[in-house]
Amino acid sequence: IAGLYKERNMTHRKITPDQLRSRDWFDNPEHPGTTALCIERYMNYGVTLEELTSGRPIIGICQSGSDLTPCNRHHLELAQRVRDGIRAAGGVPFEFPLHPIHENARRPTAALDRNLAYLGLVEVLHGYPLDGVVLTTGCDKTTPACLMAAATINIPAIVLSGGPMLNGWRGNERVGSGTIIWELRKRLAAGDIDYAEFLARATDSAPSVGHCNPMGTASTMNSLAEALGMSLPGSAMIPAPYKERSMVAYQTGERVVEMVWQDLRPADILTREAFENAIVACSALGGSTNAPIHINAIARHAGVEVTNDDWQRLGHTVPLLANVMPAGAYLSEEFHRAGGVPAVLHELLQAGRLHGTANTVNGRTLEANIDGCETRDPDVIRRYHNPLVQHAGFLNVRGNLFDSALMKTSVISADFRQRFLSDPGDPDAFEGRVAVFDGAEDYHARIDDPALEIDETTVLVIRGAGPVGHPGGAEVVNMQPPEALIKRGIESLPCMGDGRQSGTSGSPSILNAAPEAATGGGLALLETGDWLRVDLAKGEVRVLVDDAELAARRQRLEAQGGYSYPDHQTPWQEIQRDLVEPLDRGMTLEAATGYRDVARRSPPR
Ligand code: FES
Ligand code: MG
Repeated sequence: IAGLYKERNMTHRKITPDQLRSRDWFDNPEHPGTTALCIERYMNYGVTLEELTSGRPIIGICQSGSDLTPCNRHHLELAQRVRDGIRAAGGVPFEFPLHPIHENARRPTAALDRNLAYLGLVEVLHGYPLDGVVLTTGCDKTTPACLMAAATINIPAIVLSGGPMLNGWRGNERVGSGTIIWELRKRLAAGDIDYAEFLARATDSAPSVGHCNPMGTASTMNSLAEALGMSLPGSAMIPAPYKERSMVAYQTGERVVEMVWQDLRPADILTREAFENAIVACSALGGSTNAPIHINAIARHAGVEVTNDDWQRLGHTVPLLANVMPAGAYLSEEFHRAGGVPAVLHELLQAGRLHGTANTVNGRTLEANIDGCETRDPDVIRRYHNPLVQHAGFLNVRGNLFDSALMKTSVISADFRQRFLSDPGDPDAFEGRVAVFDGAEDYHARIDDPALEIDETTVLVIRGAGPVGHPGGAEVVNMQPPEALIKRGIESLPCMGDGRQSGTSGSPSILNAAPEAATGGGLALLETGDWLRVDLAKGEVRVLVDDAELAARRQRLEAQGGYSYPDHQTPWQEIQRDLVEPLDRGMTLEAATGYRDVARRSPPR
């Protein structure tokens, strides 16, 4: 793995053993009782008195794998190699669990658990004798949850991705896990395949351990962790079953011990420059529309203000370089073989789009790490001057319904342009009649209702799907057209909503609209039959209803007590709804974003 871990950078030892945070627990004669109690019980796990008291760094391994989290389950085995690396470098490993987050099984949505896992991890890292931590990541929200906690706590921390699964195949055709589901659902709806065939094809797409293999939210967030400088260069996208994956687990364990001695902390890495690099990298990767939510959240916890305007300003004009599904043709195995994240960063740096001086976990700059990492397959990782798409990033649109929503203009197809962008005077604007749904159940119940008069020029709108309306925010903005339209060959309609969209879906949508309907956002005022005008050049989305009518609708809504949403089902749903910020602010818990450098607040005994 060229360029992975270029030198043992042990020359700048900044702290001495008596400055280790864990000494306060394990070597504190002033408090002999609490010290002894702590030591005797940890010795039951098999560590020796010498290991605990001789000034070795105590390293946490935040274990995100479990039977409930299959995308990360592989970390249960990788952790052994992480432990070996930690011990080889003179540290002592302590493995502990992260609250499980599995994208495809957690109801109502895995996004509800991102902040919960974050809070739990912050408490563990603060309250236990840890000098550094290895964050094991994979499935969508595990990566941001870990990085948000690392930013809040600010002890030396390094990300180890579990890696994507191997390619899925059906005959000679590559099938990406997740992405294929969108395709198959349409074929099932059109009657081309039956349910048994649907299931067989879906399971073929996920052939091994690892997280989703297209550039969905999991691969995006692990790639961005590397672009941020938080994982060893070249490590993010090594497929889970490859031997390099265990090797990099070992090296990650070794490296975190050195980071402790060098006192290299998340705050030294998660700088404004690093976040700007991540935004640019996300566009070139064809990354998930969930990335702005998570990156903005990590930035907020790191004390760096990143907004969706930054995403448009820095990211919109970046070309698509990674020819990986859903935007491209290949999957993670080819992407890794072509050079992975370093090759993409290399193209971007040469083109002057990155801050090469940004610091990374191996103690070197981004620029130094990717030196010589040219693409090894210019079809899979394109040259900057020969991209798949010119402007691959997001537009941050606004208007009389919301203050911010994201739109990925690169997925607007020729067919779509023909149907919608028909105004000869203004090629960047389109108008459509809306059909409005209140949450996913309403959509499923009514999408085929002829009374909605949905045709090929309708915009499907879903609301009540934001972090408050559907606790955590639902991935529902990628709605498929009514069956009758699909049978006529209309496979997608533009969608708009205050929810999110799966990172493995590629339909043209206006999503993550904030504020959401449930907190007073203008989407609550929309009615089926209204006309919408989208102006891509101005970055504007407006409902063509006059202000007086909108005011009257708002008055009626408020008289009914506002936009209603389902009751809380669990205590956490209620707590999160009380504290959560809108999607454009990262869906963070407002009360948590003010905490910085928490490790330095030593916990009272
Ligand atoms: Fe876990 Fe896709 S469902 S990574
Ligand atoms: Mg998802």
